[in-house]
Amino acid sequence: MRQAGRSLPEYRARRGTGDILGAIREPELAAELTLQPVRRYGVDAAVLFSDIVVPLAAIGAGVEVVPGRGPVVGQPFASTRDLGRLRRFEPPTDAPYVAATIGLVTKELDVPLIGFAGAPFTLASYLIEGGPSKTFARTKSLMHEAPELWTGLMDRLVSITVASLVDQIEAGVSAIQLFDSWAGALSPTDYAQFALPATAAVLDGLHEAGVPRILFGVGTGELLELMASAPVEVIGVDWRVPLARAFARVGDNRAVQGNLDPALCLSSTSLALAETRRILNEAAGHDGYIFNLGHGVLPETDPGVLAEVVALVHAEGRRDRRGQRRTVQHSDREVGGDRDSTGRSGQGSARGQGS
Ligand code: CP3
Repeated sequence: MRQAGRSLPEYRARRGTGDILGAIREPELAAELTLQPVRRYGVDAAVLFSDIVVPLAAIGAGVEVVPGRGPVVGQPFASTRDLGRLRRFEPPTDAPYVAATIGLVTKELDVPLIGFAGAPFTLASYLIEGGPSKTFARTKSLMHEAPELWTGLMDRLVSITVASLVDQIEAGVSAIQLFDSWAGALSPTDYAQFALPATAAVLDGLHEAGVPRILFGVGTGELLELMASAPVEVIGVDWRVPLARAFARVGDNRAVQGNLDPALCLSSTSLALAETRRILNEAAGHDGYIFNLGHGVLPETDPGVLAEVVALVHAEGRRDRRGQRRTVQHSDREVGGDRDSTGRSGQGSARGQGS
């Protein structure tokens, strides 16, 4: 999950206090920040150091990321005129540093690299609210009161997001994650009408690329059937959803990823390990399960606790495979795959997997 690096002293040392979008624009630095948590924890995949607002910032939509707050938009999106600020995103000229970072990372990495983007609804919520929101009142009002404008906005964000993800896949990421982080703010009816079509269009736009697609949101318990109706291989869930319910709701053709509460990693190692064990037991016997946190790592987390969680998951995973192999068939490739005794992927390099 995102921000695995944020709690590391080596991350803080290299990252400094500058603007995160500035750090993302420096491939050497962004590559190093991507690699740090993999080196430290020996996790089974890396998450690209980037942010969901990178494409919007790159086309000059007026987005900044304020530390401790998140994305902020000086002039919030409100009318048809604002559509003009959302021109096409051309990664090779608008954001060449993303592919450059991926190139540097995949040269060094021996586990898969996960690229990502924000889903249209979540991106729209930042554009319309002007920043993080608790109620999403303006966003909900616009989608209901001005459905044509909403559709126009969704269409632009679909095109921007597909361009970003295709660029990342071409540069060498092995899987992509679509963050519809705030979709859980919507009722199932509103999600189905206003958010899901754009999310499905993004995922469908990647069909040809053939890499596994992960769809994640916070508080999505009541949306899981709808989310799993999109063309996707993996559904990510937070800790509010019992895994048994997640498996039942997403069905047999989708893997489930989740869902350790990051707040429970702030207390003691024994609490984090007990929770990890409980989650692994909940997932036992289900094909297609990927252990993960239910949301981003909190900055004050002790890296020692996360290292122990990773060690436990690896030990249990190895034990499990001696009994029963867990893989999810995804068209012509496997999600999860086999690992050798070092815990490394048995399918070759990250780049090899994407081809
Ligand atoms: O460290 C990583 O793992 C890199 C990957 C990553 C970042 N953002 C870097 C980042 C990923 C996958 C994201 C995705 C992202 N960004 C999401 C979706 C994931 C989710 O949590 O649901 C969202 C909603 C954003 C928007 C955003 N950017 C927020 C809410 C924040 C936090 C603001 C804060 O400081 O608390 C950011 C800033 C941000 N993006 C940081 C990082 C490492 C932290 C601040 C920094 O280092 O400057």
